[in-house]
Amino acid sequence: MARLDVMESFQDIAFPGHLHTQETLRDAPNFRFQDTDTLIATYPKSGTTWMQEILTLTLNQGDDTVSRTVPNWARAPWLEQYYFPHVVKMMREPRIITTHLPYHLLAPALRDSKVKVIYVARNPKDIAVSFYHFHKMANFLPEPGSFDQFLDCFLEGTVSYGSWFEHVKGWTTQTSKSIFYITYEEMWLDLRGSLERISAFLQCPLGAEQISNAQKHCSFNRMKENPMVNYSTVSSDIMDHSKGQFMRKGKIGDWRNMFTEEQNRRFEEVFSSKMVGSHLKFIWEAP
Ligand code: A3P
Repeated sequence: MARLDVMESFQDIAFPGHLHTQETLRDAPNFRFQDTDTLIATYPKSGTTWMQEILTLTLNQGDDTVSRTVPNWARAPWLEQYYFPHVVKMMREPRIITTHLPYHLLAPALRDSKVKVIYVARNPKDIAVSFYHFHKMANFLPEPGSFDQFLDCFLEGTVSYGSWFEHVKGWTTQTSKSIFYITYEEMWLDLRGSLERISAFLQCPLGAEQISNAQKHCSFNRMKENPMVNYSTVSSDIMDHSKGQFMRKGKIGDWRNMFTEEQNRRFEEVFSSKMVGSHLKFIWEAP
């Protein structure tokens, strides 16, 4: 059987070759957004799937028919992945599009466009843990080795999709009013308030009952049971479901169960040197 975990190196970033080609990565910045599009931009494991569900529910006034019947990759496809041109042709407005690309690789497509962008950031310690577990189950990603080895690669930015630090800095230093910033932690601590802010940004006002429905349908427990977002329908040669679940814990501060004191010290050192001058505030643990 052909190996699934071959990576596609593009501008010094390794992307899973199972989903990307040189051509799809080269074409991404030429994509022409429509004015009614919403783009979700994230580093992996930041709450991408959650935001896909939130936007689907918001644009459907809290009704979960689409959420329950259409897989997330078909209703909010990643624009840099190989199936995108095929899927996007069949989408109706308003479209939800997703990307894991760093800002600089997508910038030409955003210039002169009215697309609304939602950037979701998450505490990078929790991302490192979530990404590590995901590497273990996703056969299209390289073997992560021990958590210590993986953490080194994460801090060096040599993991797939590149450096978390560069991703976050690239997106959060933009001053465009069309970019809305939110963190996983804000959504976790106040999902209702987050839904209200997101629907206001999208100029898609929801009534109290519609917000309550959206809130119910995008809760962790509901999403964990929804095959359209929990990746349980992906064949086990691509995602080994015996090694873990995509909807794993959905918690803030899980890094405390994984990091040693030394790893935490190493992380803090790199974080403070790379994030000098950043105004981003993260909640490092559950309240
Ligand atoms: P964990 O591995 O920490 O559980 P992405 O979609 O960007 O790959 O992110 C996946 C992470 O988001 C996983 O984190 C997953 O459990 C979490 N997640 C997905 N839906 C969620 C929800 N409704 N509430 C909280 N966390 C959620």
